[in-house]
Amino acid sequence: MSTESNNLVSRRGLLRTGAGLLLTTALPPLPGHAAGLNEYRIVAAPARARLAGASHPETDVWAYDGTIPGSLVRLRQGEKARLVVENRLDQETTVHWHGIRLPNAMDGVPGLTQPPIKPGGSFVYEFTPPDAGTFWYHPHANSLEQLGRGLAGAVIVEERQPVAVDQDLLWLLTDWRLTDEGGIASGFGNRMEAAMSGRVGNTVTLNGQVSEAEPVRAGERIRLRLVNGSLARIMALRFEGHRPLIVAIDGQPCDPHVPERGRILLGPAMRIDLMLDMEGEPGRRYGVIDDFYDGLSYPVTQLAYDDRPPIREHLLDTPLDLPRNPLPEPDFPAAERHTLTLQGGMMGGGAMAGAGGMMGGGMMHGMMGMGGGPAWAINGMSMTGDGHAGMKPALTFVRGRSIILAMHNETAWWHPMHFHGHSLAVLSRNGMSVPHRQWQDTVLMAPKDVVEVAFVADNPGDWMLHCHVVDHQMAGLMTVLRVA
Ligand code: C2O
Ligand code: CU
Ligand code: CU
Repeated sequence: MSTESNNLVSRRGLLRTGAGLLLTTALPPLPGHAAGLNEYRIVAAPARARLAGASHPETDVWAYDGTIPGSLVRLRQGEKARLVVENRLDQETTVHWHGIRLPNAMDGVPGLTQPPIKPGGSFVYEFTPPDAGTFWYHPHANSLEQLGRGLAGAVIVEERQPVAVDQDLLWLLTDWRLTDEGGIASGFGNRMEAAMSGRVGNTVTLNGQVSEAEPVRAGERIRLRLVNGSLARIMALRFEGHRPLIVAIDGQPCDPHVPERGRILLGPAMRIDLMLDMEGEPGRRYGVIDDFYDGLSYPVTQLAYDDRPPIREHLLDTPLDLPRNPLPEPDFPAAERHTLTLQGGMMGGGAMAGAGGMMGGGMMHGMMGMGGGPAWAINGMSMTGDGHAGMKPALTFVRGRSIILAMHNETAWWHPMHFHGHSLAVLSRNGMSVPHRQWQDTVLMAPKDVVEVAFVADNPGDWMLHCHVVDHQMAGLMTVLRVA
């Protein structure tokens, strides 16, 4: 059963780096920025990219505006945005503006919220982002392959008042499964993977390239926006020699806090904004390590200090809070309670390292997914594939109602559960209340976790709720919630 070894991350693959030392600037250029403010023209088309450095072959990708990641979209909070998307792929696509609370017709789910954009066609997305923060965009049609071949970009919605930092950096982290020839491995939608960890790859890029080091200067305060744009890879990042503070999750400011056990957990589609004071020594390097999967830790990059002395004598002690976004506060006493239960997948596992244990026999759990049917379900119902017309909502909410959702993960696997159109206040995890006033659109659930979230159902329409391990979504871990 060799599928299993494909699942495992090749350590060597992850250590691929460019020839010499390549210091890249962290923010990509803005080729897609058209004349007007908040106006973009974004073209989805085949392209070539050098993901693993100069000594490795180029990779055929699908990209927005020809670059990996796609154009950085910078919008302003409360100002109308207009994004024209042109499809030059040979298949239908859409764009979903992940995490942005926008009108349903702009949500980019084929069949459900818009007709797909035909090859050669285009679609105009118009909305006014209510929240400042870090978001991203990706296709919601043939998602597994379109995202897995490179279609993704970041969206920064700027605060009305600029935040006082020396640098505002963005790291869009992407996991790829590359062949030895540098191509993107085929085999999207492998059924075995879909019932386990999903398509985890062998190469992680930072803003489109394997990164050996990112340049920094002693004494700086950096706002670092992390985006996990991977199909399936969960990350747990440690910054050696540094004390990052989490100041926002999924674009929504929280009370600044130290990550639990010094690890920043970043599931697929999640974003975390950090404040990072560069307290290292000039001339030194410090690893940024991802050690989510047992025994498979690898450096994502290093922070490389230049030789100059610190830019200030003492680190800044100005406040770290970001201004809160205008999120509607749920009315807890009046809230309706509902339960969503995640079911299916194979037994055992959780982290990939645990996967070995189930190869022995008796590995199937209820045989879901093996007869050719879906591998996963929510409340006993499996919606598969991408969005399509006629998806029946699992729950319907009266507009304006406060909702408390208890999500039960009955499976043996991790799931970043994502809800469109709303941000969710995360109340509790396994009975313990969650501190720091955290709001998220993508809630990472460990095996057997029970997580309670609350929100005001104030955005009318049919909204997807799905796991953002895209194989899981395609194989049944998806539903629709209606606000009417
Ligand atoms: Cu990031 Cu339904 O998507
Ligand atoms: Cu979304
Ligand atoms: Cu999942």
